Amino acid sequence: MDAMTSTQLLRRISLRQLQIFDAIVRTGNFTRAAESLFLTQPTVSMQVRKLEEGIGMPLFEHVGKHTHLTDTGRVVYAHAREALEALNNLHMEIADLKGLKTGTLRLAVVTTAKYFAPRALGRFCERHPGVEVALKVTNRERLLERLAENIDDLYVMGHPPDSHDVIFEPYLDNPLVVVASRRHPLAGCRGVTARDLAGCSFVMREPGSGTRMATENYFAEQGIRPRIRMELGSNEAIKQAIDAGLGISILSRHTLGFDGESGRLAILDVEGFPIPWQWYVGHARGKRLSVVARAFLEFLRNEGERIMEPRPDAAA
Ligand code: PGA
Repeated sequence: MDAMTSTQLLRRISLRQLQIFDAIVRTGNFTRAAESLFLTQPTVSMQVRKLEEGIGMPLFEHVGKHTHLTDTGRVVYAHAREALEALNNLHMEIADLKGLKTGTLRLAVVTTAKYFAPRALGRFCERHPGVEVALKVTNRERLLERLAENIDDLYVMGHPPDSHDVIFEPYLDNPLVVVASRRHPLAGCRGVTARDLAGCSFVMREPGSGTRMATENYFAEQGIRPRIRMELGSNEAIKQAIDAGLGISILSRHTLGFDGESGRLAILDVEGFPIPWQWYVGHARGKRLSVVARAFLEFLRNEGERIMEPRPDAAA
């Protein structure tokens, strides 16, 4: 690319193009980006071409059916995010000065947090009807990648990385329990031991999941190798497998709904359980949180513990 001043660059590319580029990276492809922005795919492709011309280098490379960012694309993306975030913050600060909380809250949560995150968001949005929410649910490993890429405002997970580059705070208990079918021989037994568990078949979350990490930590501490019968990438699928008699599992109690034990599944009375994990919320250090993200953080600090309580108006 010829050396050019930022004013020249501004003449060659537009914020709209950066917004379209951002949507492609976020959604993973041109079609979904077009849908999310209510544009046609040819418009999206044309704007990307113009952006590439403006930058003077390709932003994407196409390998078979897959589209990847080039090295230039990655650099442009990091700056595009900063520019769009600054614009979004400006919009929210102005609204805040007018006494309104508006804008988009971009929240990413681990799979297991989906049992309560929508509840927290529901209560928050009731108070701030002008707020829109983009919620991403994925496993811990993918969440850490998004955190490193600074894609979202806030992240919720069970065990934040031990790093100076991030700031996380606990806001809600997340007890881990051993879940079995009510028909399991250990269901209803008192004082089940780790050795008893060693004799059981386990249904495990996939590697990369926080629940899996906690389970492996537990067994490593006990010096036990669990018998893994099956690996599944979803808590709901694991509950079905437990019910079908395929094994038992260590899961967040929140996966059993707001009332804890429910229906056909039982929580085993195992020594050392529940493991007292916690839910944390946080972001990259140095990130400038938007007005809405700050308000949500404050909401979790003040009301996080009450999220799992049934609402007074909920049906009995
Ligand atoms: P997971 O994470 O949903 O990826 O298992 C749970 C956690 O972080 O506690």
